[in-house]
Amino acid sequence: MSPEPFDDGWMTREHARLMASGRAPVPWSECTAAALDEGSRARVAALWRARADAERCSVAIFATWAVDLVGAGAEAPFLALVTRAALDEVRHAELFDRLAEAYGAPAAPPSRDLPTMPDDERVPLRWQASREALELSVIGEGFSVALLYDLREHARDPAVRAALAVVLGDEAAHARVGWQWLAHVRADADAPALFAWLQALLPTAFARFEDAVFGADDGAPDDAADEALRAHGACPRARMRALYEALYDTLWRDGLGALGLHLTPRESH
Ligand SMILES: [Fe+2]
Ligand SMILES: [Fe+2]
Repeated sequence: MSPEPFDDGWMTREHARLMASGRAPVPWSECTAAALDEGSRARVAALWRARADAERCSVAIFATWAVDLVGAGAEAPFLALVTRAALDEVRHAELFDRLAEAYGAPAAPPSRDLPTMPDDERVPLRWQASREALELSVIGEGFSVALLYDLREHARDPAVRAALAVVLGDEAAHARVGWQWLAHVRADADAPALFAWLQALLPTAFARFEDAVFGADDGAPDDAADEALRAHGACPRARMRALYEALYDTLWRDGLGALGLHLTPRESH
């Protein structure tokens, strides 16, 4: 150990080690941003910056879930996976910030947005942690996996594809841990009451998610004319909606059904 363990060099090395953590490197020098006209490049840069900000927000989301899981008496494997997920989200924010800058976004200080997560002192922490498993892992990360897979399928830029592959691998684990937790608390003595409570809040959980994803302007292109930008990681809003609806009608309906939670048929838009 160096005599000054918190010197800049140590921080920089530790940070690099944690961010790489066995993941494939991204070929930044192969980025094809220069092939785009200025307007398109600015749109793609804004899109990656918005995604980086959302990933930074996910750091706080997983950190909050970790706190609630400690209060819920969660065993070490849950704490390990959820605290690792918070670290993974730091990696994602960094990758997407770097993509934003590769597409010409000016360097900017980190965004300070914090998530709004439901909190009710009257609800036991084990129940709150279960609601978080549903909302942020099963729904939020589940959608992320489907979206990132789709983004990667259509992306042609080598740096974009490599960054998406790293993030996709992490998000798949983030989605699984929520399902694991819900299966775990099915064995609790108060599981019938817990699952009745979760059943009652299912419509709100999905409505909150839809509002977060489709209710805000995150720079996602609106029309099929933007299809060309898919090579650089953009996704038309209609495609995102189609992915969401497909998950609702398959993974979430069947997976939650297996846990005894029943989704009402989706209202078509
Ligand atoms: Fe992420
Ligand atoms: Fe995630």
